[in-house]
This record gives sequence, C-alpha cells and structure tokens, in this order.
Amino acid sequence: MQVNESYVLATGVVAAERLELQHEVLKPCSYAQIEKTHLSKGNTVWDIGCGSGAMTVHFAEIVGPEGRVYALDISQEQLDVAQRRVKAAGFEHVTFIQGDICSLEGVSEEEADMTYMRFVLMHQKNPDCVIQAVKKLLKAGGVAASQEGILGETYSNYAHTVLKEYRDTLMALGTYKGCDFNLGNKLTTLYEHAGFKHVEGYFKEHFLPISMAKKFIEMSLAEWKDKAIQAKLITPQHVDIWQKFLNELDENAPGFSFPQAYALAWK
Ligand SMILES: C[S@@+](CC[C@H](N)C(=O)[O-])C[C@H]1O[C@@H](n2cnc3c(N)ncnc32)[C@H](O)[C@@H]1O
Repeated sequence: MQVNESYVLATGVVAAERLELQHEVLKPCSYAQIEKTHLSKGNTVWDIGCGSGAMTVHFAEIVGPEGRVYALDISQEQLDVAQRRVKAAGFEHVTFIQGDICSLEGVSEEEADMTYMRFVLMHQKNPDCVIQAVKKLLKAGGVAASQEGILGETYSNYAHTVLKEYRDTLMALGTYKGCDFNLGNKLTTLYEHAGFKHVEGYFKEHFLPISMAKKFIEMSLAEWKDKAIQAKLITPQHVDIWQKFLNELDENAPGFSFPQAYALAWK
C-alpha cells in the first residue's frame, strides 16, 4: 500500500477530530471558494486528499445523484472515516479511491469539471507532479480549486516564545521532510507554471480563538511530536514545557491569526 512518507500528521480516527475543528473554522471560506467555480448538478468532481471527507459531502450535495464525486486519499484510514461520513449523509454517488495522486492508474482522464485540494500540496515533496496529475483529470475548461496555508505567517499578538517555538518546529519538520509549509505563498505560481489558461489567487486572514487554538495545538502536537523528536528538532522536555504552557494558558488570551492562500485555475 502506498504511503506519503513526508506526511507529518496522523491519519484515520486519530486525525478526525482535528480535521473537524479545522473544517469548522475554514468552511465559510472553503464553501465561498467553491461557489466561485460554479460547480453544479450533474458535474464530476475530484476531492484529492479528501481526509475525513468534510468537503466530500459538500460536493456530493452540490452535484447531486446525477453527478459523481471521486474521493481520493493515499491513506486507507482517512478513506474509512470519509466513507462512514458519506454513508451517514446518505450519498451513494461517491467513489472512494485509495492511492497517490501522482501515480494514479486506470482512472478516466479529462472528465472532471472540478478538482479540489485543501492542505494537500503543502505535504508533497513534489507539488509540481501533483498539479500535472490534477491537470490530466480535468476536462478543457475545468477548474482546479486549492487552498493552502502559510504557516510561517501565523501569529498571535499574545507573543510567547513557546508559541513561536511550536510554529517554528513544525515549519522545520516540514522542511526536514522535504515539504514547504509556506506553500500558500507560491500557490498561484505553481498553477501558472503548469500551463493553466487562467489563474486567480487571493488570501484570507482567519482567526482562531484561544480555546480552539489551544485544542488545535494540543491535537496537532500529539500527532507530530514523535517525528520531530526522531528528527532531533526537539527533545521530550520541549514537549513537556509546551504542554505545561498550554495547560496554564489563560482562556482570555488573544487567539491566533493565520493567513490562507486560495487559488482557482482553469485548464
Ligand atoms: C491535511 S489533510 C487535509 C484533508 C482534507 N483535504 C481537509 O481539508 O479536511 C491532507 C490529506 O491528504 C492526503 N494525502 C497526502 N498526500 C497525498 C497524495 N500524494 N495522494 C493522495 N492523498 C494524499 C493525506 O493522507 C491527508 O488525508
């Protein structure tokens, strides 16, 4: 079975709660982005790196039973969660595919009206290869919608070294694994270089209140801390200090701002 060796986060039920929290914060802007694509009834859409399927159900609802959604993920554990979610929502026009977007075989090319990726490119050693694979799936005039983070620009006006250390360590772990967690900064350029006919990009600032930020950091840290320790970026003592800081964090402290990059690219 294929795995993405550079993926630093957890998969399956372990990751589901964090992905859900993330989706709750991001969904107004993610849904607004989809509206700009004019995705409609009867369309075919690929949700690439679908994770726990938060956006998959949204697409299934938009395209309706006369359309088709392909939910692709390299992780079978993620797909299991997504499949349960889609089934619970009562949709039957979703096809689940386990595989790496860069080495897909036996799928129909040039048929998709839309492809979607949220936080997928930033986890790749070779994002150009992913974008070329996406281009193959799209029909002429089809649109690729993407959303990626710019981790280095996440900030809190509650300036504390622990928060900065946490962010910088995660950035360093991405670099160690060959990924760019600031990929949002070059999102439109990637699509332009891949030869898409028309590319539109924009940024949005999101805000995470401290209670949610705290929960999010704790869940995310539990997923990647062992990899950062193995990579000798931190020691277990760092994790203890950070955890203690989080436990004692004042619930009234300011939250976090984090910018997101959005791109729409028409083939
Ligand atoms: C950060 S999660 C985001 C999940 C979902 N897009 C969301 O926004 O809720 C990234 C997902 O992409 C999947 N993934 C990473 N690399 C992949 C690849 N090369 N091909 C297919 N899926 C991949 C991971 O397994 C994971 O489920």
